[in-house]
Amino acid sequence: MRQILIAGVMLSIFGCGGMAMTPSAPSNGTPKDGELAFPTLYKSFPKFLHGIQKPNAVRDLYVNQRGAETHKGENFANGSILVMEIHNAKKNADNSFTKNRDGNLIKDGLAKVFVMQKGAGWGKNAPEGLKNGDWIYSAFKANGDRLDIKYGKCRSCHMPLGEAKDYVHRYDEYFMKRGHSY
Ligand code: HEC
Repeated sequence: MRQILIAGVMLSIFGCGGMAMTPSAPSNGTPKDGELAFPTLYKSFPKFLHGIQKPNAVRDLYVNQRGAETHKGENFANGSILVMEIHNAKKNADNSFTKNRDGNLIKDGLAKVFVMQKGAGWGKNAPEGLKNGDWIYSAFKANGDRLDIKYGKCRSCHMPLGEAKDYVHRYDEYFMKRGHSY
């Protein structure tokens, strides 16, 4: 895992995959918000929850193998990566949202990719009063380019979940759907 992390950091430092070298490239291996490497292989990660219906979007969540090894009731281990794809929803000619037979919105293009990743001691890089354990946040366009976002928003909306749910909104639902509690 350590090697994968280092590879990820190198990737972002050397700006591979069309990612521009940004001033936010991690300097000492402990990233701040906005500095996580784009998890290019996330589509092959285990499913966390897919097809989440929002009023104007559909969201798919993924968790990397490390995170998927988490047991119900535990916090995610260092090295865990959670990814949220935010898809636009298809619209009809009259601008209303198109629904399928089950009344669900239909995906119409990937808009953004939101990422949370954990590493030992990374929480020290978070602003005082907004620390969510050791999670660090980053937001990307569909092509992996970084979005310019105020990360305090991510933190303050995930913070109420608290240590018990490891600041993960769909914590309970995930472990319920997985249908086991080992
Ligand atoms: C206004 C509240 C809010 C803000 C702001 C917010 N999130 Fe979330 N986030 C949620 C909710 C709610 C979910 C669960 C999925 C859903 O219902 O959309 C979620 C889910 C996630 C997940 C999947 C794991 C989980 O918690 O279930 C990731 C990863 C994530 N968000 C990253 C981010 C990042 C990165 C930002 C900032 C760029 C951010 N979020 C900002 C509310 C928020």
